[in-house]
Parts: sequence; structure tokens; C-alpha cells
Amino acid sequence: KPVYEIAVVHGDGIGPEVCAAAVQVVKAALGPGSPLHFSEYPAGAEHFLKTGQSFPEPTFQACREADAILHGAGGLPGVIHPDGTEAGLDFTLRLRFELDLYANIRPVRLFEGVPSPLSGVKAGDIDYIILRENSEGLYAARGSGALLRGEVAVDTLVQTRSGIERIARKAFELARQSGGAPRDGVRRVTCCDKANVLRSYAFFRSVFDEVAKDYPDIATEHALVDAMAMYLVVKPGHFNVIVSENMFGDILSDLAAATVGGMGMAPSAEIGAANGFFQAAHGSAPDIAGKGIANPYGTILSAASMLDWLGHKHGDERLNQAAARIRRVTEDCLANGLLSTDLKGRASTSEITRSVCDRLTAGRD
Ligand code: IPM
Ligand code: MN
Repeated sequence: KPVYEIAVVHGDGIGPEVCAAAVQVVKAALGPGSPLHFSEYPAGAEHFLKTGQSFPEPTFQACREADAILHGAGGLPGVIHPDGTEAGLDFTLRLRFELDLYANIRPVRLFEGVPSPLSGVKAGDIDYIILRENSEGLYAARGSGALLRGEVAVDTLVQTRSGIERIARKAFELARQSGGAPRDGVRRVTCCDKANVLRSYAFFRSVFDEVAKDYPDIATEHALVDAMAMYLVVKPGHFNVIVSENMFGDILSDLAAATVGGMGMAPSAEIGAANGFFQAAHGSAPDIAGKGIANPYGTILSAASMLDWLGHKHGDERLNQAAARIRRVTEDCLANGLLSTDLKGRASTSEITRSVCDRLTAGRD
């Protein structure tokens, strides 16, 4: 009977709280005889302060060899490298580049019971995926940009043909499988770029258009990223899958999260050819850390994606069934008003976690 090894890194701020919640939920969903085995490893800003290392080599090895990686959140303001960037982000950023986790899948969905700042939207009206290219773009300059004479700072944006091709293919495959609800009877992929101004984005768009020819069943369109920021507010119901360069995807995913309840409702899956890394899209929120009020739904939903990804990869349906149960129970809890303070509710992290777990165990035969 297979045992899937899950490398768990709690990280900083609220990271340990939301990560522990997700682990409990996964255990409750799989029950006794669960094929998952969790091992914890250190990384992040706190670990850097204690040891001088933000991402110890044994943690990297364990993550590379694990069947999946689950993370809370990393980074603390002020804990920085000599170049001024945050040390606590090394874990996430090095994993992305060193394990080539090129596809960052960020579902944006408005659940029943969750308040949106947009007027006139109801549950189900917002249901799309932001597919963020996660292995190149501007972020690939991290650690290698130049600072000249203490006066001129340079970071370079890199786009490769093969990198754009594989993320574009992923976008079309997601649109075929799961990419949100079909809109007006059409499934579409929106290529989001700034092709009107910069050559790297014009290249992104042209390679996307070439790939699109292989998917005649999926509608395609282009949107400039500045206009996209507006569309996500005024017509979020239009989209199925939005694909974009790394940093644009980063920015748009926070905007998108705001429309469906905030960063606490933003799950994420970072996938490569071999490895999968699962964490919510939010940061470590040090201002509310340790208070027991962090919203665990984003990490719980990311853990459900982990089960789905593992289940598909290994042809192990138990895991997909557990993922579906976690999603259903999460939906029920939200619809029944089990809301954390960021969602204008009063439920604590542990109340939410307990309630999700209780429903999972009650529903198991
Ligand atoms: C995200 C986060 C990360 C990013 C940080 C934590 C490095 O904001 O996953 O969106 O900037 O990509
Ligand atoms: Mn981000």
C-alpha cells in the first residue's frame, strides 16, 4: 500500500497556524489507513534569525524527494538579505526555480456566504483560474540583478519560447478540464500581457497565438494587463483561464483574491513536471500571527489541490475523493456562516478547522 511522503514547512507569521489546520483537515478527510505521511522541515525568516539559514539544504533535499510539499507562509518584514530583499521568501522562490515549478494555478472563486466588495455578484458568478507563469519572467532576476555604484539597480525580464509554450499549453488544458465555468457557452483562455509596449510581452503573445492553433475548441483573446486589472473588477464573470507572465500573475492574483473575500480565500498550486508545491497565495501576516484568527480556508483548499494532483499522478482515486469531500465541506462551512474575521465573521482558526474536520469524519462511512 503506497505511502505518499509530504514535506511540510510551516514558515513564518500565521504560516504554522494555517498549515497545521490544513494537515488536520487532510488527515480527517483520509481517516485511519491514510496513505499520506507528513514530515516537518524548517525554513523561513524565523529560521534565518535563529541559524543564519533561510532554506537549509536538508529541507531542500527533503522537498525535492517528497511526493508533495505543503507550506504555510514565509517571510517577515525587515528580515533581509544584503541586497535588501526578504530572506524568508527564499523557500518559496528557490523551490519554484530549482524544481522548475512552472505552472502556478490560482483558482478564483466566490463561495456562497463569503462577502465580496463588488456589488451585484453572487456565488458562482466569479469562477476562473489565473495561471501564473512561475519559472521565468521578471522574478527570474531574483538574486542576479545588478546594483551599479550604489546608484543604478537592474533586474531583467526573461521569456523563453519553450517557457511560454508550456504555460500556454497548460492554460488550454486547464480550460478543457476544469477552468472555471463556461461563459456564454464558451470556454476561453485570455492571454494577459503588455504586448503593446515591451518586446518580451509581444513575444509572449505571439508564442501563445501559435500554441492556440492546437486548441480550436477553446476561444482565445488578449488583454493588456492594465485593462485586465479593471476587467477583474467590472466583468469578473467573463473569464475562464487567464494566463500571464510571472509578476503580472502575482499582482493580478491579489486583485482577484480581493473580489472573492480577500487573501485568505486564495488557494494556489505550483506544479512542475515532477514536483508539486502547495500553499495559499497570501503572505505570513505577522500582524495577526499567534492570535488564532487567521483564515485557514486558502491553505485548506490548497491542500485539497495537493490531494487532487497526487491522486491524478498516481491514479489513486481515494485521494481525489478526499479532495472533493474537503471542497464540499469547505463550501458548506462557508455557506453556514463559519467565517473568520477577515470575512467579517467571528470564527477562530481552530473553530473553522474543528468544524471542517468534524464534518469530514461524520461523513465517512
Ligand atoms: C505569492 C507571493 C510570493 C510571490 C512571495 C511570498 C514570494 O506573493 O505567491 O504570490 O511574490 O510570488
Ligand atoms: Mn503574491
